[in-house]
Amino acid sequence: MVAPLVLAHIGERTDTEIESAILHCPDCQHEYPVIAGIPIIVPDLAKLLSERGIELMLRDELDPALESLLGDSIGADSWFDMMRQFQSTYGWDGYADLDPAEVTTEDGPAPGAARRCVARLLDMAGPPDRPVSRILDLGCAAGRTSFALAQAHPQALVLGADIHLALLLLAHRAGRGEVSYPRRRIGVVYDRRRFAVALDGAERADFWACDANCLAVPAGEADLCVALNLLDCVTDPRALLESLARAVRPGGRILLATPYDWSTRATPINAWLGGHSQRAGHGGSGEAFLRALLSGPSGHAIPELGIIAEQEGFAWHTRLHDRSAVQYRTHLLVLERRPH
Ligand SMILES: C[S@@+](CC[C@H](N)C(=O)[O-])C[C@H]1O[C@@H](n2cnc3c(N)ncnc32)[C@H](O)[C@@H]1O
Repeated sequence: MVAPLVLAHIGERTDTEIESAILHCPDCQHEYPVIAGIPIIVPDLAKLLSERGIELMLRDELDPALESLLGDSIGADSWFDMMRQFQSTYGWDGYADLDPAEVTTEDGPAPGAARRCVARLLDMAGPPDRPVSRILDLGCAAGRTSFALAQAHPQALVLGADIHLALLLLAHRAGRGEVSYPRRRIGVVYDRRRFAVALDGAERADFWACDANCLAVPAGEADLCVALNLLDCVTDPRALLESLARAVRPGGRILLATPYDWSTRATPINAWLGGHSQRAGHGGSGEAFLRALLSGPSGHAIPELGIIAEQEGFAWHTRLHDRSAVQYRTHLLVLERRPH
């Protein structure tokens, strides 16, 4: 049964947006906050807020000298450093092309890797069977792909979902015309980048804190679901595929990219799709494992999903700092939720 959430309390609001509020589920009695315009609708609210809630308190940037002092004092590999590394990597990939202060070098990585994945996947998917009105962008990070999807489908509403609150704030603010992120130079040395942007389709994109494996949206309503480089970041990748299959309507498409960069920090080894058990028929290959899961005859396959196009070795990278970027070769797949 679907129980729509009710707006139980409204704090701050503007003419067009609710900035702070409390959502209430009349069925299970759970409450979910809306903070800084971001609804936080996750199954374990206490865990997310205790681990990441502080990111919301830091939404107005610190004075640069103070930020640098805090960075040194809180230290490398701290929550503060990890937050800034994420903001730097995904803020840069998403928006550095629009930053007047960004200097591109011939030999360095070019921003926009995630958008290039989206563009290629949309191309591979071809024209949709009917107009696209609802799109989910799961693991949307700093949100630029959500805006790109809104631009590609001018009738669609796009929901970008992620569990990284600081990235969602970056995305939300970009939608309102300003990008601000700490760009990592080296170590814990960062430069604050702040610039105006005008993103097409921004008024049709919204950002929620949501676990992709437990989506707070009605089943079967999305025309298109996108999950770029997310499969190897979740605790249960198979459950992510099932969650995507539930979210999309019959005949709808799922755009997937993955470098199969498994790590036990994100995913227990027994949940990896490939990357182990090289003695088995799949030989430890993620591609073979995933293909079997999506279109194989085995009883373990996910019957609602089928592959309609794929491409191997598509370039995607993450910039770490001025002297380092990690280059991946991702596997791109267009899936279809089989019609009933
Ligand atoms: C490797 S990054 C990819 C970001 C972006 N899609 C891209 O391709 O550049 C994975 C993103 O997924 C988010 N993420 C990880 N686990 C998640 C989950 N269970 N639900 C939603 N987002 C998640 C992370 O916070 C991060 O922003």
